[in-house]
Amino acid sequence: MSDGDLDIDGLAAEGSRAIASASSTAGLAELETEFLGKRSALTRAHRALGGLEPEARKEAGRRLNEARDRLVSELESRRAELAASERADALRADRLDLTEVIPAAVRSAPGRGHLHLVSQARAELEDVFVGMGFVVAEGPEAETDWYNFEALNIPPAHPARGMWDTMYLDLGEPETVLLRTHTSPVQIHLMEQAVAEGTLPIHAVIPGKCFRLDTPDARHLPVFNQIEGLVVDRGITFGDLAGTIQLFTEAYFGPGMQSRLRPAYFPFTEPSAEFEITCTLCLGEGCRTCSHTGWIELGGCGMVDPAVFDAVGIDPAEWSGFAFGFGIDRLAQMRHAVPDMRSFLENDIRFLSQF
Ligand code: DAH
Repeated sequence: MSDGDLDIDGLAAEGSRAIASASSTAGLAELETEFLGKRSALTRAHRALGGLEPEARKEAGRRLNEARDRLVSELESRRAELAASERADALRADRLDLTEVIPAAVRSAPGRGHLHLVSQARAELEDVFVGMGFVVAEGPEAETDWYNFEALNIPPAHPARGMWDTMYLDLGEPETVLLRTHTSPVQIHLMEQAVAEGTLPIHAVIPGKCFRLDTPDARHLPVFNQIEGLVVDRGITFGDLAGTIQLFTEAYFGPGMQSRLRPAYFPFTEPSAEFEITCTLCLGEGCRTCSHTGWIELGGCGMVDPAVFDAVGIDPAEWSGFAFGFGIDRLAQMRHAVPDMRSFLENDIRFLSQF
């Protein structure tokens, strides 16, 4: 066998092409066997070198080694390339796409919340009263002594002030300013406005925040909500008041629920009453919550006192009216049998999401 019989360059070029176009490390391993293995043309040529003349053997041996070295290094670098891309493919294939695993509902925007139970109760109350012909009004949460007390027939040093202790604000004003203890002062604003604008009669409900120096407990919060009612018209009687409260009780709590009035005292109404409704827990049977009476007190009410009409310049000979007021938080507490009112303010989502 002569050097000329073996096309070393051709063999090397063929190997180079095959290596460059190999598409996997497994394919590359086959090429390695084919071009460099024991039975490869190159190995066989090496073995056959012994039959050559010394000079020719040396030259052919050098060229064979060169060709082998080149193929080995091409093979190694191609192997490194293919191994890297195979590894990248494997990682891509193994990747856990959580967007496919997590249900669409969880992936979308955070779930929408809903109104707080007390806000829901306020909105429902407004609906009920609007359905009965009332308009909804609002007033300031910081009031002067005049609106919160005096115009409501509670003069300075009157013992009734003890029922409504609150925070006094030092705003450098000549008048005493305080956080309103009830929504009743808005009665005064509405009557003054109606007198000034000549828009009597008034049929209004007034929801809003109130403040008292109460220690929080199961049935009291220092910041709470009331809804006030005020009707001023011609020929309004105590019967209108009782009928309105009964209508409201059925509309809000459901048919079959009763209301009753019991004599009470408020400086701004005469006569005054506390109104009670059928106990929502025992439905009138008698239970611990209603002290076995079957009734639960909801709020105060009465006929607008002539002294209040005087304060705002309404002639009690021409106009008469009734007013009522009760706590919205207390109402929501009773309707849903919430044992402790403080739960309303604790922001515990497990509590709030039940309503
Ligand atoms: N303002 C009273 C309170 O907070 C409740 C009340 C009683 C309101 C009688 C009224 C009423 O309008 O007529 O204790």
